[in-house]
Amino acid sequence: MDRFLIHGGRPLFGSVSVASAKNAVLPILAACLLTEEECAIRNVPALEDVRTMLKLLAALGVSVQHSGRTVRLCAGGRIARSAPYDIVRRMRAGYYVLGPLLGRFGEARVSLPGGCAIGARPVDLHLKGLEALGARVEVEHGYVQARARRLAGAAMRLEGTRGPSVGATANVMMAAVLARGETVIDGAAREPEVVDLAAFLGRLGADIRGAGTPTVRVRGVRRLGGADFRPIPDRVEAGTFAVAAALTGGRVQVRNCRPEHLAAVVDKLGEAGAEVTCERRSLTVTGRGRPRPLCLGTAPYPGFPTDIQAQFTALLAVADGTSVVTENIFEARFLHTMELARMGADIQVSGSVAVIRGVPRLSGAQVMASDLRASAALVLAGLVAEGETEVRRIYHLDRGYERLESKLGALGARIERRGDD
Ligand code: UD1
Repeated sequence: MDRFLIHGGRPLFGSVSVASAKNAVLPILAACLLTEEECAIRNVPALEDVRTMLKLLAALGVSVQHSGRTVRLCAGGRIARSAPYDIVRRMRAGYYVLGPLLGRFGEARVSLPGGCAIGARPVDLHLKGLEALGARVEVEHGYVQARARRLAGAAMRLEGTRGPSVGATANVMMAAVLARGETVIDGAAREPEVVDLAAFLGRLGADIRGAGTPTVRVRGVRRLGGADFRPIPDRVEAGTFAVAAALTGGRVQVRNCRPEHLAAVVDKLGEAGAEVTCERRSLTVTGRGRPRPLCLGTAPYPGFPTDIQAQFTALLAVADGTSVVTENIFEARFLHTMELARMGADIQVSGSVAVIRGVPRLSGAQVMASDLRASAALVLAGLVAEGETEVRRIYHLDRGYERLESKLGALGARIERRGDD
């Protein structure tokens, strides 16, 4: 298992380019199952989750061809309807094949996603939406089995107790594009990745309106064609570099991003005392001394993203005062705080609230990554800690960040990847 060794204390300077958004690429790849024509997806990042999705699609019978960062997919041949546990267990987003398989073939069998370090992640809303479209859904032997002759458009409300669901909105949208009649999803997730998926489906010939608002309308069509598509940049990766600049007291230009997708993050960086300038496709962050303490709560888009909460916790760990961070989306997303404490942070967690008393400095330590964004927080903390930090289990990080060590290295960080000794 690879690990990172980081020597902290160097401010980051320079410019870095962001890859396409993992959370847009994954459903878009799955959506290629909806058409027998070829789809070309551009600027696909080399991430473990993307490799897993491509492996899953290939196992289903999709032809997958890579040339550089472009992936060409064609689901024109014989396509299996069952997604095996062995692949789906590696990545929760494997459930994204459920909607497309059901929508196109009237049948899908997908292994239930496994447990997750950030808390229970149910799929009830996905199933509720598909049932509303007329599917018979059964959960048996660890698999979700859904069947319908042809799905029929319906009105539904998809919000759960913690708000809208990105995954359920995407899955139901994909199932509904080939259904008979109109589907109206109320309480739809408004995340830019959902909007990007709708844009891709639109290029295939789907009729979707309202993506990015709480009400999405899908008018079913008989068949879809192919498309050539470039997904949006990764706002979480961009946000991570922005926090790195603020935390290390450096100055970093984050290129190829969409600042408008990061409004809540830019706001909070400003409140923490960093200087942020936004341009159309880039933002520049300058760290100015010790961060100022603040209160933040995660929320569905356009609120503060849960996927950038851990990175902010690292920033606030060295703030000049006490901050309060509330995690409203996932129930157990504070595992990184225990590891940050091993580096000298003073963080008390009670339920969904973390009280962070800023300390003047962190000290390097051996720490263990527990999930994707938690790993990023530990790397960020390592960048400012005194001495050496060893972050273990960075396979979590490789699921969502492309070459993080070389990108940070190019900005002046001292970070290296080591395999097992
Ligand atoms: C997606 C993102 C993830 C991000 C999350 C929230 C992908 C591949 N992953 O995950 O990075 O952290 O959005 O922005 O895009 N819920 C239910 N029932 C369901 C589905 C969800 O109760 O059927 C709950 C979840 O437990 C959670 C909340 O709804 O509390 C939001 O989850 P959801 O938006 O579905 O997250 P994902 O799509 O899994």
